[in-house]
Amino acid sequence: MHSTFVRPLNAIAVMASGKGSNLRVILDAVQAGTCPVDVRLVISDKEHAQALQIARAAGVAQVEFINPKDYASREAFDAACCERIETVGCQWVVLAGYMRILSDVFVQYFSGRVINVHPALLPSFVGADGVGDALKYGVKISGCTVHLVDEVLDGGPILAQMAVPVLEDDTRETLHARIQQAEHQLYPETLRRLVTQAFEISGRRVIWQSQA
Ligand code: GRF
Repeated sequence: MHSTFVRPLNAIAVMASGKGSNLRVILDAVQAGTCPVDVRLVISDKEHAQALQIARAAGVAQVEFINPKDYASREAFDAACCERIETVGCQWVVLAGYMRILSDVFVQYFSGRVINVHPALLPSFVGADGVGDALKYGVKISGCTVHLVDEVLDGGPILAQMAVPVLEDDTRETLHARIQQAEHQLYPETLRRLVTQAFEISGRRVIWQSQA
């Protein structure tokens, strides 16, 4: 498969379940003028997620807790999120510590328009505990990956990666903190590239076009 994408539009929805530090650095980059996106909507599946407070404090227009318990199935919950994202008019969905696995229906609906940041160098250490799994395995280098989301968990084409060392006295917490420093550089920067720079996907390879 060989296809070219050029994305002229840049309204995004962010989905987050946790403390929202990646959301915060994206909002900071927007504010600083270094990431030309319009964060139109922030959705959380957790009522008290700090991400929601960060979004409200930054003045994001639509900040919504959508309660999974109000829906009969994962698909029904995802359909409700889809509907909100469409209604608000977002072209991109940015996952920032979103802890639910997206259903195929969601991924197919926004095919090629959902990105995620994972706290390991994919394809190593997929899943919910990429940091702990890397530490237990004993790798000396880990890092973070920004990737397109497809139907395979943590399996979509890789947009960008950044490596960090694993130190002898690392705990899960210290390693995650170092990886998050890398995420905080890489995620806003990759989002900027995504909306300003064309790329091709050849097989699994994302090939960024040189900028004019
Ligand atoms: C990040 O480490 C990210 O890699 C993972 O979840 C964490 C979210 O952190 N997917 P935060 O909520 O953005 O601080």
